[in-house]
Amino acid sequence: MQRLRRMRASTVLREMVAETSVKKEGLILPVFVTFGKDKKEEVPSMPGVYRYSVDRLGEVAEQVLQAGIAGIMLFGIPEHKDERGSGAYDADGVVPQALRFLKEYFKKAGKSFLLVADICLCEYTSHGHCGVLREGEVDNDASLPLHAAAALAAVRAGADMVAPSSMMDGVVRAIREELDKNGFENIPVMGYSAKFASAFYGPFRDAADSAPQCGDRKSYQMDFRNGREALRELDSDETEGADIVMVKPALSYLDVVAAARARTLLPLAVYNVSGEYSMIKAAAAQGWIDEKRIVKEILTAFFRAGADIVITYHALDFVRWEEER
Ligand code: PBG
Repeated sequence: MQRLRRMRASTVLREMVAETSVKKEGLILPVFVTFGKDKKEEVPSMPGVYRYSVDRLGEVAEQVLQAGIAGIMLFGIPEHKDERGSGAYDADGVVPQALRFLKEYFKKAGKSFLLVADICLCEYTSHGHCGVLREGEVDNDASLPLHAAAALAAVRAGADMVAPSSMMDGVVRAIREELDKNGFENIPVMGYSAKFASAFYGPFRDAADSAPQCGDRKSYQMDFRNGREALRELDSDETEGADIVMVKPALSYLDVVAAARARTLLPLAVYNVSGEYSMIKAAAAQGWIDEKRIVKEILTAFFRAGADIVITYHALDFVRWEEER
């Protein structure tokens, strides 16, 4: 008989042989920034997640500094949307404004902190798709320069990293070239490499008001039946010059995360998405699950599967709960 229980007998033994832990320096908090002034609106389907106007961002900035997580990833909600998503690459758009504000805030605090800008058109287009349309279809190549322009605007405003999330082919290269051409060769690109067309994004689309007005995203986001293809997506981003690759969503895709870990030598990120967060919040509100324990178990699973970086709405809660223990 193998007495596997022998090494589980006491806390000291268990701590000694524990293989994985959640690294708070690997956590990134997604933050929604909205137009207007003096706003802090809770997202109805995501309790504990807010949309802040730029002038109210100091509150989040303070919390993330205290927590000691890696950084935040910004999503913008513009006042006006149009066919071409021009708010995404407006030098004075919500995200560039937020970036300038936060950059200044962190400089004053004398702390280093990562400001990541999500790069996509869907929050800015009137039709809600991630690229521009031609005869009702998302036009991949025509959308690339717009993504490149959005990345450049974000970096000029102070982004330390950009993360294209639209699943356009060639978007990593288009952004890399644009940044290099403008003297930003040291700004890393995190590709949302294997991003699946998922029902788990529902609450995010409430938060960002970015649900497609017609059709769905299946012609550009991945089919969730495909694991091998996910690896091709990863390879492709790597070839285009991504510095970090990502699998998204996270919970139902840990097989893909593990396979990605075995395949790439790049740092690997997972995005623990809105629907995954909301399910836990809803069940916890009913008293059906122990939220603190569940969140720790889930975050640990991402690292165990091979992630180096976890983008999660639970980041601040998790750090606070760990400190309370
Ligand atoms: C934008 C984008 C989405 C998410 C991140 N970037 C939405 C989508 O693809 O519809 C989802 C994040 C989440 O659900 O938390 N392209």
